[in-house]
Amino acid sequence: MKILLTGGAGDLGRDLGPLLARYHDVKVLDIKKPDNDLEFVSCDISKSEDVEQATKGVDVITHLAALISADTSTQFIDVNTKGTCNILEAALKNGVKKVVYASSVWAASRGLSVPYLPIDENIPCQPEGMYDITKRMGEEFCEYFYRMYGLNTMILRLCGYYPVEGFSSEGDILWDKIDLPEFAGRFVGTGPAFKLTNAWDLTQAFKAAIEDEKIQHDVFIIGLGAPFMREDAEGLKNMPLAVLEKYYPGASEFFKEIGVDVPEIRFWYNTEKAKKHLGFSPKFALQDVMKQYYENKEK
Ligand SMILES: NC(=O)c1ccc[n+]([C@@H]2O[C@H](COP(=O)([O-])OP(=O)(O)OC[C@H]3O[C@@H](n4cnc5c(N)ncnc54)[C@H](O)[C@@H]3O)[C@@H](O)[C@H]2O)c1
Repeated sequence: MKILLTGGAGDLGRDLGPLLARYHDVKVLDIKKPDNDLEFVSCDISKSEDVEQATKGVDVITHLAALISADTSTQFIDVNTKGTCNILEAALKNGVKKVVYASSVWAASRGLSVPYLPIDENIPCQPEGMYDITKRMGEEFCEYFYRMYGLNTMILRLCGYYPVEGFSSEGDILWDKIDLPEFAGRFVGTGPAFKLTNAWDLTQAFKAAIEDEKIQHDVFIIGLGAPFMREDAEGLKNMPLAVLEKYYPGASEFFKEIGVDVPEIRFWYNTEKAKKHLGFSPKFALQDVMKQYYENKEK
């Protein structure tokens, strides 16, 4: 399929583009050129005529272009809101089959004051900043273009992406290189908690959304999930290791051994919907990491 990857020169797009090109014909749209050989079109998404031109002959748009930080609210609105609206309008005009929108869990909430746990796709949306609300508006536009015009739109609410050193291009752990405290800690709320850790997982999530043929419109949380239940919330705040032991026997010893102090876990995400309907989950869950770690140690 011909895929237009907007924001292909950004942090996610630079890692996603080349891997996605293993499966599809990828063209990058951005205001700056990425340092790779992918076909490139220079285009500012806040300019509707340019967007209409750049989206001709495309099957699917994966829409990542956005401002993550800005000096003024208007800048956020111009790119994240108006830009996303331009992408959707152009997709409709040009007969694009689907738009996969890179949203953020922050479109709903930053997690610290939520009415229930774990956070899932139904959590009430109460954005807490201009970036957050403009990502939420992008989601609303996706839903509107689907409901009113039948445009196929998929929303990936990313917990985020912050790569960890030490993965192969197939997403396998390179045990002589992996930053294990950083990687394993992600599953229990340390550092950029719950964010995807490698380009393989990021690519598989977008690939699954692009290639799905059943879903017309939906929203999916994409990140490192956790098996904890609602009733674990107090324990995860007060005695996280005791709760971890319940789900991952040996976790206390494992985290001690790799030098990670497990913090109080105040929120976490339910990522089961993406697994069930898109067939996507990150290549490794915490139990796989622990298992491979001990197998490797014995060698
Ligand atoms: N980084 C994360 O952890 C994270 C978390 C949740 C969601 N997301 C979403 O993923 C997407 C990519 O994020 P990122 O971290 O790669 O951001 P980034 O800032 O690194 O990249 C964004 C890209 O968009 C381009 N861009 C900005 N304004 C543009 C315009 N007017 N026209 C065309 N291109 C423009 C930039 O040049 C840049 O290459 C964003 O939509 C973001 O909201 C990211």
